[in-house]
Amino acid sequence: MVERYVMSIDQGTTSTRCILFDHRGRLVSVAQREHQHHFPRPGWVEHDAVEIWRNLQRIAPQALDGVEDGQVAAIGIANQRETTVLWDRTTGAPVGRAISWQDTRTDAMVEDLRRTTGDDFFLDRCSLPLATYFSAPRIRWLFDHVEGLHERAERGDVLFGTMETWLIWNLTGGPAGGRHITDVTNASRTMLMNTRTLAWDEELLAYFGVPRAMLPEIRPSAEPYAVADALLPGVRIGAALGDQQAALFGQTCFAPGEAKCTYGTGSFLLINTGTQVIRSRHGLLTTVGYKIKDEPAVYALEGPIAVTGSLVQWFRDRLGLIGSAPEIETLARTVDDNGGCYIVPAFSGLYAPHWRSDARGVIVGLTSYITKGHLARAVLEATAWQTREVVDAVNADSPNPLKELKVDGGMTANNLLMQFVSDVLDVPVVRPMVAETVSLGAAYAAGLAVGYWPDLEGLRRNWHRAAQWLPDMDPGRREAEYDNWQRAVERALGWIKP
Ligand code: G3P
Repeated sequence: MVERYVMSIDQGTTSTRCILFDHRGRLVSVAQREHQHHFPRPGWVEHDAVEIWRNLQRIAPQALDGVEDGQVAAIGIANQRETTVLWDRTTGAPVGRAISWQDTRTDAMVEDLRRTTGDDFFLDRCSLPLATYFSAPRIRWLFDHVEGLHERAERGDVLFGTMETWLIWNLTGGPAGGRHITDVTNASRTMLMNTRTLAWDEELLAYFGVPRAMLPEIRPSAEPYAVADALLPGVRIGAALGDQQAALFGQTCFAPGEAKCTYGTGSFLLINTGTQVIRSRHGLLTTVGYKIKDEPAVYALEGPIAVTGSLVQWFRDRLGLIGSAPEIETLARTVDDNGGCYIVPAFSGLYAPHWRSDARGVIVGLTSYITKGHLARAVLEATAWQTREVVDAVNADSPNPLKELKVDGGMTANNLLMQFVSDVLDVPVVRPMVAETVSLGAAYAAGLAVGYWPDLEGLRRNWHRAAQWLPDMDPGRREAEYDNWQRAVERALGWIKP
């Protein structure tokens, strides 16, 4: 019998990837292409949505090399979340470039709105604090800065989407009949969807001035949406999820209390909280984890950390103290500890659990004793301490304290770091055999939707442990060092004067 596969598309911040998975969740082929980042002004970060669509059209045939018609059972999409693209319904041409989730151009507007409205208005509806991170302030910014755009949007001539919506529109024919669809996980990052009803929220739409006519239809994460005729004729798109939710799914965190953290340029810890919406009192986001067709939505608490792997890049590229990212582990191992030095990488403020855009990075505890080895150690430890802050918030918010952390992402290759994460969290840290959990999660959801995989239990059986780190730190030392970290964070907060 001819083997069948599921194709996963991961449209991420730096690149777009296409991966084929087989029935045991093993990677069969991969193709990837980076896209350009545009930085037209300080704080502005943009992508060209057309370039991203073309990249996908180029890499999909590469991933499919040697695969016959009929061998692809479904397509699943995972994507960078919150990034905002508007386009003309008739021509399919984007209105300017896509505005990245990292873009802070709405900073002043967000501060203004927050002062007048307060956070509760938003938390009660979309479970998110008002922040530059999310999509709605960007749409409003575009209306304020592009003449006539609001009127066109009101008429439904201009459409809004995050990256999965843009890709689905193009995959299904674009202006010649494309489907305008988002999924609940991506919609839950716009600040426009009501977390409980899973529908666009009238009050939020009115607040941000976003016409309903420009918004996509909200659908479950796993459900056959449409056929991807513009790329793979006859093959159904079976799923779409925000990339971090896809990683939660790929790590098979299907039960309340199960958690994963993806360590990349930034890091994102999500814990499954079941079918109840838990409102965070400790600086986490409440987000939709996934929704399988005809089943209730499963929610998650999330702690996004803005700077982790990108601190290592800064150490390499800006300070030049290492030649490649893996060298940081070798350098950090030249010393036994951080020598009393802490680095808080609040390069553009701090995300969870602080949500302070007025924070800036600090290095504290410098003495003439400090070597570049100590600095390397402090760089790695910053990732672990930021994870600890998020886990403290999780344990304070969630009825299920963290018992184990599943990890994935590039930084998990660093053994020193992963041991330190386990030490400061005081829980086992485990990494699966298939490291591509974002893509795998999208494939799993799509495969479930079309019956390629029967159920969640079947997916669980595909998860195999590749590495484990167990806590091994004296509790007294752990708490003393955490106290130092927290004092360092205090110094980072409020650095930018209002
Ligand atoms: O919320 C932003 C996140 O989805 C970005 O993930 O992996 O594309 O950087 P990534």
